[in-house]
Amino acid sequence: MPENKTPASKVLDRVLVLEMVRVTEAAAIAASRLVGRGDEKAADHAAVEAMRKAFDTLYMDGTVVIGEGERDEAPMLFIGEKVGGAPGSGPKIDIALDPLEGTTITAKAGPNALAVLAAAEEGCLLNAPDVYMEKLAVGPGYPEGVIDLNRTPTENVAAVAAAKGVRPDEVIVCVLDRPRHADLIEELREIGCGIHLIPDGDVAGVIAVTDEETTIDIYMGSGGAPEGVLAAAALRCVGGQIQGRLLFRNEDERSRARKWGIKDLDKIYTLGDLAKGDCIFAATGVTDGSLLSGVKRLKGGKMTTESVVMRASSGTVRWIKGEHRDR
Ligand code: FBP
Repeated sequence: MPENKTPASKVLDRVLVLEMVRVTEAAAIAASRLVGRGDEKAADHAAVEAMRKAFDTLYMDGTVVIGEGERDEAPMLFIGEKVGGAPGSGPKIDIALDPLEGTTITAKAGPNALAVLAAAEEGCLLNAPDVYMEKLAVGPGYPEGVIDLNRTPTENVAAVAAAKGVRPDEVIVCVLDRPRHADLIEELREIGCGIHLIPDGDVAGVIAVTDEETTIDIYMGSGGAPEGVLAAAALRCVGGQIQGRLLFRNEDERSRARKWGIKDLDKIYTLGDLAKGDCIFAATGVTDGSLLSGVKRLKGGKMTTESVVMRASSGTVRWIKGEHRDR
């Protein structure tokens, strides 16, 4: 159950929560045909097309707030695009989506590629620009404020270790394996932390902190800001804390953020800023990973999928195994 009780949204009540899984399943199945085929673009395109089509079956007046890019960059599922089968009449829902989170992983048949989306009432998901975000996250059960982006990695590890009742060198931190994280990794090595390096896929990386079985205590480092909002939606449902700060590499990225109405470019976003109120998070595994198993193609044209769908207001987490016929 989430640590803070979130009242149920009447708007989301009218959308079948389980139906969201159809959408992520469709994207994952489409992308799975391209696992290990070395073609990131084709895998992404297949997932986007399938997700776009699946949305039409849902009774909602949806708007993509986090999508494949801006209108001129993405032909489908662009930011601002209307999705759903009931435009103008259905409940107004904002959607954050990533039809294929982990395009490179999919092309290389690596771990943790997902089809993922979050849905909430209008205005409840941060309209994050497509820039990097520094992220810091822990799972449920810690005192509020145990992590703080204004503190150093060493201080954050010490605080989490103290709250967990272990030594700092017993803490496990998940970090994206990138050259830009060299200093962070060096600092964590000094402490003696276990570092779980992931090749890609920080939505699954952040969610891993909520599952004791992964043994990961903290997520640290920078990745996509849109992925930060998706991960925050999952944490709203299962508990945990996340902080994020947008990182800008040039003036173009800063002006992109201003265009989305972001005034304070140095703001530290908390969980409630990234995803507030009631929300739904759904994901289906494309390749096997810490959160979900990937799509499997079996004999006789049978396929299996594994998905999760969660809701913030109820705290319900449903794990759904699907069997499908390959058409
Ligand atoms: P894509 O699916 O767009 O390839 O994103 C994968 C990913 O690893 C995200 O999970 C992460 O937030 C981002 O890329 C990190 O960006 P970069 O690869 O530039 O470090």
